[in-house]
Amino acid sequence: MKEIVVSGIRPTGHLHLGNYFGAMRNYVRMQEEYNCYFFVADWHSLTTHPDTSELRDSVLGVLAENIAAGLDPEKVALYAQSALPEIAELYLYLNMLAYKGELEKTTTFKDKVRQNPDNVNAGLLTYPVLMAADILIHRAAYVPVGKDQEQHLEMARNFAQRFNYRYTELFPEPQAFNFGSDLVKVPSLDGTGKMSKSENQLATLYLVDSDEMIRKKVMKAKTDAGPTEPNSTMPDYIQNLFMLMELVSDRGTVEKFRNDFNGASIRYGDLKKALAEDMVRFIAPIREKAAAIYADKDYLRRVLSNGAEKAHESARKTIEETRRLVGLRYF
Ligand code: ADP
Ligand code: TRP
Repeated sequence: MKEIVVSGIRPTGHLHLGNYFGAMRNYVRMQEEYNCYFFVADWHSLTTHPDTSELRDSVLGVLAENIAAGLDPEKVALYAQSALPEIAELYLYLNMLAYKGELEKTTTFKDKVRQNPDNVNAGLLTYPVLMAADILIHRAAYVPVGKDQEQHLEMARNFAQRFNYRYTELFPEPQAFNFGSDLVKVPSLDGTGKMSKSENQLATLYLVDSDEMIRKKVMKAKTDAGPTEPNSTMPDYIQNLFMLMELVSDRGTVEKFRNDFNGASIRYGDLKKALAEDMVRFIAPIREKAAAIYADKDYLRRVLSNGAEKAHESARKTIEETRRLVGLRYF
């Protein structure tokens, strides 16, 4: 039996390099060896994006971009979260096992309250509970996500444990997953924080960016006059550029610029030019494929409907078991 994998991406904008290296690259590798459920987290997007006029386009866009990055809808179940009402029911049971105090302490909740103090809704507070339901509904063992999701995963394990203890063992404790090493955090180009869909768009490289746009963003990345003596300490924002380079450039290029830095002879303009060209080489084929897939709406609708059917089967089994264990079977 293949082990089960679940992950989701919110349809709150175009996907970017952080999504690719934090999540999608792992999805693509995992589809060969695991039983994978990947979904567009449309309910989650309602917690921060209540205006749904562009939701449908965003859902299809996220789907097209994932397929362009290498996901095969024949191999994995690709669906929209809202196609599985079982998730909402499981969320309800888990909400009784989640405490207000721990939810208020969640880093992402505190960040979102700070960013948008006028819309601190209950859905935002219970965001990690809904996420736990997404994962537990398929009784997943692994969840490929970026580093920013580590705390949510820990909470999902706590809710699973509490359910298993209160009722009967049903849920495995899901682990965050990255092939090979630690979870990834792709830094933004302005030297602060991570690339992200909605914040500082000029510091984020999107998979739909044109070649010109990619060059422009990379050339604008923060640098300084360069080290004045050999083997200086590298500032954060320069480390970030090297980290980005390691993702898309060959080893020789990275080595050359590292040596230049250590020899205090580095020219950041040259580094950024090389990085920009490697980014273009990396992103352009994905962008072009995504555009072609996005144009075929009938195909995308078929993918969503087949995916929902596959995912539904597994969700139904879990929710029936859950009801039985909670003691809600009356006839
Ligand atoms: P965003 O934060 O851009 O809105 P999502 O919250 O929908 O993106 O995240 C989808 C997936 O992409 C998650 O697994 C998340 O951990 C990962 N991810 C998002 N941004 C980054 C980043 N800068 N570095 C690494 N992984 C990221
Ligand atoms: N919270 C995740 C994010 O912001 C998206 C998400 C929702 C998710 N449900 C999930 C990720 C279940 C993994 C598993 O990136």
